[in-house]
Amino acid sequence: MAVPTLRPATAADMSRVAEIWHEAWHVAHPGHVPDGLTAARTLAAFRDRTPARVADTTVAEVDGAVVGFTMTADDEVEQVFVDPAHHGTGVAGPLLEEAERRVRAAGFAEAWLAVVVGNARARRFYERRGWVDAGDLPYVVSAGGATYTSPCRRYVKRL
Ligand SMILES: CC(C)(COP(=O)(O)OP(=O)(O)OC[C@H]1O[C@@H](n2cnc3c(N)ncnc32)[C@H](O)[C@@H]1OP(=O)(O)O)[C@@H](O)C(=O)NCCC(=O)NCCS
Repeated sequence: MAVPTLRPATAADMSRVAEIWHEAWHVAHPGHVPDGLTAARTLAAFRDRTPARVADTTVAEVDGAVVGFTMTADDEVEQVFVDPAHHGTGVAGPLLEEAERRVRAAGFAEAWLAVVVGNARARRFYERRGWVDAGDLPYVVSAGGATYTSPCRRYVKRL
């Protein structure tokens, strides 16, 4: 398994970040969130969201290509997404560790994240790395001019 190289994202990465976010989101979420939200999660919508998030983003590279990313916001590990072609190849673990490090460096002793109830693979991934299911979290998001509530669980980890 190729060991990924992690680095802070640059503006030039954010188009690739949007592609990975779109492809991986649609592997894990359809059928587990409101259909209207799935329809609103277009590549164009992800492209609109990413430029403003450069400073929050760390990317993972394998053989010089960006294959995954993570975004943090204060004590929240907000996004962990890996190109589906690289699922199960050891890219995600270092990305999650880096997100935890960023939360700790921001001065927080505990990190949290929201994961959709039906996203079994991601929940398994987090639990394998010491994250604990701390309960129900109806996660409200705006997309395509509408508001949706995704059935999520709040996971936490002491850092
Ligand atoms: C979440 C994600 C980053 C994890 O990376 P990954 O490379 O798939 O992670 P791993 O393969 O190391 O771990 C997945 C675990 O789930 C297990 N698994 C795989 N498919 C599964 C399924 N359908 N149900 C339950 N567990 C499953 C794997 O066996 C592995 O467990 P193991 O380590 O005990 O073998 C990646 O799957 C992803 O990008 N998913 C799509 C986007 C997403 O859901 N992001 C998180 C949003 S909160």
